[in-house]
Amino acid sequence: MSFQEINIKDLQINPFQLIGNDWLLITAGQQDQINTMTASWGGLGIMWGENVATVYIRPQRYTKTFVDQEECFSLSFFNGYKKEMGYLGKVSGKDTDKIAEVGLTPIFIDGVPTFKEASCVFIVEKKYVDTIKPECFIDETLDEKWYPNKDHHFMYICKIKKIYTQDI
Ligand SMILES: Cc1cc2nc3c(=O)[nH]c(=O)nc-3n(C[C@H](O)[C@H](O)[C@H](O)COP(=O)(O)O)c2cc1C
Repeated sequence: MSFQEINIKDLQINPFQLIGNDWLLITAGQQDQINTMTASWGGLGIMWGENVATVYIRPQRYTKTFVDQEECFSLSFFNGYKKEMGYLGKVSGKDTDKIAEVGLTPIFIDGVPTFKEASCVFIVEKKYVDTIKPECFIDETLDEKWYPNKDHHFMYICKIKKIYTQDI
């Protein structure tokens, strides 16, 4: 493993491919316990003069408990590992040691958990959280389609503190 920090301006990615098609893991916690979940919704951009990543986490996700406890968490991107990510996105860490089951290797970078097998890691710091609100939908069909159980996502806008990559 040899993660190198890179300048965000040197990041060569297509966010639509990276987030929407390749997916990512949202990982948070401390040495004694971490949790992770797959995500394929999110955004990268600029807010409040900072480089930011926005992720959307439903209230029932166990990972949300960990994200809420920490100032920082990680977004990990992989070359492949779709089978593993599919599992981590189906099973809850509440019920099983799913990280061990898929065989990923937790490591800590800057005190934040991620995985040895990742090809790119964003260390992010929470700046803003709010829920998607039913009354704010301009297109109400989206609320009906995506939230029949009223489990509206929490939206976390996070400053991208550091980006690490490795050839893997
Ligand atoms: C491809 C894929 C993308 C997902 N994207 C999200 C997402 O953006 N937000 C979310 O809340 N859940 C998303 N999920 C569902 C969570 O990953 C899933 O419920 C996971 O089991 C939660 O684990 P946890 O309870 O251990 O946190 C996605 C699942 C998959 C398979």
